[in-house]
Amino acid sequence: MANINAPKGVPDYVPPRSRDFLRVQEQLSSSARLSGYEYIELPVFESTELFERGVGTSTDVVQKEMYTFTDRGDRSITLRPEGTAGVMRAVIENRLDKGALPVKLWYRGPFFRAERPQLGRYRQLQQVGVEAVGSVDPIIDAEVIALADQAYRSLGLNDFHLDLTSLGCSQCRPAYRIKLQEFLGTCDLDQETKERADLNPLRVLDDKREIVSSQMIDAPLMIDSLCSQCQEHYDQVRDFLRIFGVQWNEAPRMVRGLDYYTRTTFEFVHPGLGAQSGIGGGGRYDGLMAELGGSELSGIGFGLGVDRTLLACEAEGLTPFRSRILDVFVIPVGDQSREPSVSLLVALRAAGIAADVCVDNRSIKSAMKAANVSNAPLVIIIGPDELSSSSVIVKNMTSGDQQSLPSEPGTLIPAVQETLRNLQAENRKEDQS
Ligand code: HAM
Repeated sequence: MANINAPKGVPDYVPPRSRDFLRVQEQLSSSARLSGYEYIELPVFESTELFERGVGTSTDVVQKEMYTFTDRGDRSITLRPEGTAGVMRAVIENRLDKGALPVKLWYRGPFFRAERPQLGRYRQLQQVGVEAVGSVDPIIDAEVIALADQAYRSLGLNDFHLDLTSLGCSQCRPAYRIKLQEFLGTCDLDQETKERADLNPLRVLDDKREIVSSQMIDAPLMIDSLCSQCQEHYDQVRDFLRIFGVQWNEAPRMVRGLDYYTRTTFEFVHPGLGAQSGIGGGGRYDGLMAELGGSELSGIGFGLGVDRTLLACEAEGLTPFRSRILDVFVIPVGDQSREPSVSLLVALRAAGIAADVCVDNRSIKSAMKAANVSNAPLVIIIGPDELSSSSVIVKNMTSGDQQSLPSEPGTLIPAVQETLRNLQAENRKEDQS
């Protein structure tokens, strides 16, 4: 019978790489968790209308990339292509906007876009995101950007940069849009690009084709047409970014693929990834809550791509991370040792020590091989001699040293904890040198 493979463009993360995936996912949310952002768990499917209204019908995401189906109750359902619209829906529905503001939330999980698959562009993609809703204070803009910057740096990433601009607001953008459309009217564009210019003229600015980009050199830019409030806001965002210690490039031609952005907009780019170089992005959205039937509150957030960040870590040689999944591997030698070994396993796990036991009555040679594969820094061996002397052998897998310790859990467990702490301290010293 033929094998069944995963659908096209949907990545698997299997061990040992899945360890790195998990590490990246955890690190990307670490800065938000340390800054008072609360976790929000959201459904992976929503009413299609949420994305049509929230993300915007003129975007590629809504026009061509959504996984939409009719459910058994004849409702149009869509697998979420992004997180912001769902967070706003949940904030409104659960009346979080009526409580203390700003509401600061973080989320993670899979999102779905029917894009043409290639390395770093998947149909099931993973993001870690944050949204801070209910404040226009530029401190929040800078904080959100700094959280993303810090998250990448906590993984050891260095070779990325931040593109930043302001897209203006409902006061200044319409006038700029007319100015840009007038300019585009004087350019020599093919029919499809002309249609795009009518629908979403900003996207023409970002067209990578030489024939178009060469004509965009003198195009008017939003950043030169900001109203005084937007200019003041953008200036302050940059002042606070300096205080947060974040560096950026001015990117006045940046275009994002979602319609809701206003004012501060940003993207993190990693040049080691080829075409799919955007490892994360976000921005402010002034009208989104109201568009979805909620209060007139502004928000700002980001989505960081876990898949691409893992690729970026690999491109910088940061993986495999020194992430151990086990502290101790227990080896019973002989039938009589099986039960005491499992009792020890239970005690270790109860004490918060990640432990596993060798099964299938392996020979000591084959059990030591399994211990090596497990990558546990300590191995505890219980054989007939140890049983008769109420002891165990504790072997340090890095140095090869081994010692005999009493098997009584009240003595053994603290000794194992102490050894693990010492090993961790040695590793930290090594990392710093
Ligand atoms: P986005 O720029 O569409 O923004 O996606 C954020 C990140 O998700 C991208 O920078 C990229 O790393 C990753 N990503 C997007 N599409 C794919 C794909 N097909 N394969 C792999 N990775 C992908 C948003 O989704 C907004 N909701 C972010 C946001 C939050 N804005 C405000 N708040």
